[in-house]
Amino acid sequence: MFEFPKDFWWGTSTSSYQVEGDNFYSDWWWWEKERDLEPSGKCCRHYELYKQDFDLAKALNHNAHRFSIEWARIEPKKGFFDLSQIQHYRDVVISLRERNLEPIVTLNHFTLPLWFVKEGGWLNKKAVDYFLHYVERVVEGLSFGVHFWITINEPIVYIYQSYFKGIWPPGERSFLKSIKIYKRLVLAHINSYKLIHRIYKEKNLNPPLVSIAKHLRGFSCLTRNPYHKFIFSFKDYLFNFMMLDDLIRNKSLDFIGVNYYTVEFLPKNSLQLKDIPKNNLGWFIYPEGLYSLLLKLKRYNLDIFILENGISTGDDNQRWSFIEAHLKQIHKAIEKKVRVIGYLYWSLLDNFEWEKGFSPRFGLIEVDYQSFRRTVRRSAKNFSKICKESKL
Ligand code: FCB
Repeated sequence: MFEFPKDFWWGTSTSSYQVEGDNFYSDWWWWEKERDLEPSGKCCRHYELYKQDFDLAKALNHNAHRFSIEWARIEPKKGFFDLSQIQHYRDVVISLRERNLEPIVTLNHFTLPLWFVKEGGWLNKKAVDYFLHYVERVVEGLSFGVHFWITINEPIVYIYQSYFKGIWPPGERSFLKSIKIYKRLVLAHINSYKLIHRIYKEKNLNPPLVSIAKHLRGFSCLTRNPYHKFIFSFKDYLFNFMMLDDLIRNKSLDFIGVNYYTVEFLPKNSLQLKDIPKNNLGWFIYPEGLYSLLLKLKRYNLDIFILENGISTGDDNQRWSFIEAHLKQIHKAIEKKVRVIGYLYWSLLDNFEWEKGFSPRFGLIEVDYQSFRRTVRRSAKNFSKICKESKL
């Protein structure tokens, strides 16, 4: 029996662009056409169906839900703030609260307004100010019901895909620009952190809890080769810890938000790798990697919230064993006094997986993209028992 703390957060994560549909003013809407990708179109129609989706989450005994705000809806044209869209997200927060689901709100989950990107995106000297204007409006509007804020989702993944590999908008491939963006995102976070805290103070609200969603990747070296070991400790620092160190030095994290999916092994041709299972996107399944990362995070002495962990698979039994195995590793870390406060599975619904389109299936709930019908998978039912009793 694996018991979790009584007040543990249990639920799922989503992001606006990946579930809402019809995000006409976002950079991704343009990008899909530019690169001839599968269009997100109506997506899961979650923008209209959110109440019904939250009913399902409630019925599955979740007590938390992470979603993101689409900046391009709030500010479709530079300087024009659409109050009806802020109202929409207020309604989303109210609907979650009515169902006893704690809202965890992400301000930026990869997508940006197209006008912002056409003006140079994060490279524009005014980028951070633009972002803060948006953050201010949203936080003013939603502070009444939100305690947990995530400023930016996976900043390093965004930089890598959008400015280094160039497969996400704006499609740049430049090391120098990547460094510039890194600095901008760090600044955007720190200033948003201060702004959010200031707004809560002015309104006499309890202090909010603000963080980022940090993608952590396991790096596992299967040899004693010192060169391999050096490469991996360097990668581990660059991808996993450099930004956390920067943000913590600036006292701008109230807890650590963690997204964990997979691991990278060296050497890549090792025979041992043939025994390690993969998901249907070819990502290694390696729950032990989460355990070692959690132990490394202990040094920061902050609460840790698992904000994403999930698998794309056509085999729902595999999804269930994935969840079980990761929860066991989390439990093991808690026993070692790592302060994990919650676990959100990615994702509530099958959704739009960026350049890969709709074929990956990450959902606890299946979505039929013709009828938009939802079907609760067995893994969701198994997970709901854990959410209910806080034990496995
Ligand atoms: C994470 C992203 C999320 C989703 C999952 C599969 O890196 O934060 O939007 O695409 O991967």
